[in-house]
Amino acid sequence: MNPTDSIAAIAEISPHGAAEPAISQSAALPNRAYTSHDEWLKERDTVIAQTWAGLGFSSDISEPGSVYPVSFMGLPLVMVRDQSGRARVFHNVCRHRGTQLVAEAGDAGLIIRCPYHKWGYDLSGQLKTTPNIGGMGVHEVAGFDCADHALTGIRCEESMGVVFINLSSDAPPLLEHLEPLLSRWRELAGPAFDEQLAADTGEFGSMELVLNSNYKLAVENYCESYHLPFVHPDLNTYSPLEAHYNLTVDPLASGQGTRVYDLKRGDSEPLPQFSDWDSERLKTAEYLSLYPNVLLGIQADHFFVILLISEATDQTRERLQFMYADTDATGEAYRGRRESLHTAWSVVFAEDISVVEGMQRGRASPAFDGGQFTPLMDVPTHHFHQWFLTRLEKSTTRAVS
Ligand code: FES
Ligand SMILES: [Fe+2]
Repeated sequence: MNPTDSIAAIAEISPHGAAEPAISQSAALPNRAYTSHDEWLKERDTVIAQTWAGLGFSSDISEPGSVYPVSFMGLPLVMVRDQSGRARVFHNVCRHRGTQLVAEAGDAGLIIRCPYHKWGYDLSGQLKTTPNIGGMGVHEVAGFDCADHALTGIRCEESMGVVFINLSSDAPPLLEHLEPLLSRWRELAGPAFDEQLAADTGEFGSMELVLNSNYKLAVENYCESYHLPFVHPDLNTYSPLEAHYNLTVDPLASGQGTRVYDLKRGDSEPLPQFSDWDSERLKTAEYLSLYPNVLLGIQADHFFVILLISEATDQTRERLQFMYADTDATGEAYRGRRESLHTAWSVVFAEDISVVEGMQRGRASPAFDGGQFTPLMDVPTHHFHQWFLTRLEKSTTRAVS
């Protein structure tokens, strides 16, 4: 490809740190950032590799021995909870003949066994058993040292109930990376809100949707409240567009907030609130796209995370997990309220599907060149594009220098 055809060049991002173009003159990402398989892989190995991306939920691997396979942008990976309780992520591939190691989530016990010739790896990825490697009944062979054949690990850390990965291994530590966002929300929800989150693993604790679109369109749709009156007419009656504000958290997130979240809506038992939530801002709720693929929602009585697992350039699995201020809230007494929250959010997220998939279909058109950001309503989306393009440019520059 001619370098002048690159996505970054088209969007007129300067590699030399020139001022960002004004939003109304700023080009958005071109169609192939959403439609090209090659661009998708390049994006994984550049923009996404250098930062922290959400892979799964801490509750997916709740106990030592829990394993949970995830296909992440074409990479077969597996999350594992080791004996010490630490989350680990490995390439989900046996070091012998390259068979996928873990096909289904579950409890591996102490050893993850390959289904093919039954080599066994412990929960820290060390190869421990190689049955019959030296002939029937002989489990060792000269010149072969198990220590040389551990699973290939990927750097991972946990925060807010999410297992994050950093493919390049050289991003700052996760909590340092998240600091601008965590400090904002610790002021709102209390200094330890992120440590007290209790995942609801019951009937109304999660939901999953498959979107026929690139994951970035789900990020972009979540960034803005502009579509609220038209796509979410019911939501707009109790949380109207005019009560929303744009939100950018440099350099890692953007979205929207509202000042009219109604804690008492519905007639079921109100949920416990975060104990140190700012009492002046009980009706504040904020919705942030944490780049590249984690969508967060915080309210005084519940928190949710949506992971966008990109399965193809035009296919995304959305996994939502509800979390609460304490484990009491996940008990029977609050079942009614959790059910009504689950129902209300299911409606909202289902309403978004057709517009997000519509944007994907539109990106097949050569008549679309990235479109036009509006100066007020698209500020958070523009922020995401600038984040993306700056990192793409940085990787491209690093690769050629
Ligand atoms: S491929 Fe895994 S043991 Fe042979
Ligand atoms: Fe929406």
